[in-house]
Amino acid sequence: MPQWDPTAYLAFSGERSRPFLDLIARVPGDPATIVDLGCGPGHLMPVLRARWAGARICGVDSSSEMVDRADRENNDPLVTYVQGDIASWIPDAAVDLLVSNAAFQWVPDQLDVIPRLRQHVASGGTLAFQAPNNSDAPSHTLLAELASDPRFRRHTEGVASARGVDARTYLDLLADPDWSLDVWTTTYLHVLAGEDAVFRWISGTGARPYLQALPDDLRPVFEADYRAALCETYPRSEHGTVLPFERVFVVATREPGSVDRP
Ligand SMILES: C[S@@+](CC[C@H](N)C(=O)[O-])C[C@H]1O[C@@H](n2cnc3c(N)ncnc32)[C@H](O)[C@@H]1O
Repeated sequence: MPQWDPTAYLAFSGERSRPFLDLIARVPGDPATIVDLGCGPGHLMPVLRARWAGARICGVDSSSEMVDRADRENNDPLVTYVQGDIASWIPDAAVDLLVSNAAFQWVPDQLDVIPRLRQHVASGGTLAFQAPNNSDAPSHTLLAELASDPRFRRHTEGVASARGVDARTYLDLLADPDWSLDVWTTTYLHVLAGEDAVFRWISGTGARPYLQALPDDLRPVFEADYRAALCETYPRSEHGTVLPFERVFVVATREPGSVDRP
């Protein structure tokens, strides 16, 4: 499990927040209880609060750095944060809205975990999530190639890596007569400012486990090679560096009155 750095992660908070707005816009109803799984540093709570003024909201994240940061900045009496693993999380009572933004790709057995999570959604409630599906993007294939280079392989073999799932797989997984499904894909063309923009972007997320696995003397070598490969693949233009980024969205709403089938 990588150690998260909230400051590095928030460097592109505008671009990273946009999909959450797009997801939330499609959630129906007026949930009284909301749980945000993999909530990160808490910067998205105001989005939930702006939409649902009276909801009790709990943010869950496995990273103590993220939870500490979220707690420190929280001044909303109806918002709480707890440290916990999405894979084993169980609420005390069914939840009206289970939401997750850019976190399920880090859960190794997400296709087993998501149907289990759905059981904790109250009647008429919603499971809404967004997850990147960019494992085939050059930013990730270049990373994997470099990590398998004999200079680094000994340290990077077997590190936790994010795994995307395509939209159709989620749809087939969650199709059920008692649930209405809204599944879609958006490819954002993020225009990033400054030098080494794609490297800075991915160092806050997908590349972290690899960079952390490397010893201090090898990390700068890896970083230099990776930066160079990214600069060649994502050249900086006069308006910035364009990073195409595919994300999958799922909004699954339980029919009022329905119960889980065994
Ligand atoms: C890319 S960040 C997304 C943060 C926030 N949801 C957002 O959209 O900005 C991924 C978050 O998922 C958390 N995470 C990863 N695996 C997790 C797990 N198994 N259980 C709980 N949180 C997890 C990380 O600690 C991190 O805060």
